[in-house]
Amino acid sequence: MPWNPDQAGYGDQPNKPGWALQRLIMVHDGMRDDLTLLRRAVYAATRPDQDVAAAVAALGEVSLGDPLWSLRRYCAHFCSFVHDHHSVEDSMLFPVLLANRRNREAGLEKVIEELQADHRVLARYLDDVERALTNAPNDDAAKAEAIEALERLSEHLESHLAVEEARLAPALNALSAVVTEDDLLPPPEEGAIMSVNGTAKPGSDGKRET
Ligand SMILES: [Fe+2]
Ligand SMILES: [Fe+2]
Repeated sequence: MPWNPDQAGYGDQPNKPGWALQRLIMVHDGMRDDLTLLRRAVYAATRPDQDVAAAVAALGEVSLGDPLWSLRRYCAHFCSFVHDHHSVEDSMLFPVLLANRRNREAGLEKVIEELQADHRVLARYLDDVERALTNAPNDDAAKAEAIEALERLSEHLESHLAVEEARLAPALNALSAVVTEDDLLPPPEEGAIMSVNGTAKPGSDGKRET
């Protein structure tokens, strides 16, 4: 579900997302791209009828000799990135939004409780995918389990990202109206990688944003 400016509008410029919402969407979009790549690679590595060469080319570092090895490494990076992102939201973003809450954002506490509960569910799904990929080379049942775990994660994560953007939009825009990005967060550095698969600008030091 894409972000809907008509539902998320706030303040004097109801259709204009502020910096905080834009930044959240930017990080989420990187995660969406990573998830798409992971799905392509898992299907290619676990199903002989898939286009392995295309997935290998996309991942860049996957070896045709043992594609699952690099796939597991990529998956570990992706899962770690998502875990870190949720950790930053739980420990920093959500408290800041609650502290900046206005009367017109009644219900924000409940929204944040639901998002945090979702983070805990997603943590289990991420672990399931990592575990399933570790077992995937063993037999067809293990490969099917890896696909199932990945589809469960994909469905839930994509929904979570869209719901988070839509339901936090008013609070994020309210925050953007009273605090500048530079006051609250360092701007994305030149070369910062916004996702596992993110294209770094020249001069990248490998630093990731969450
Ligand atoms: Fe989240
Ligand atoms: Fe998020």
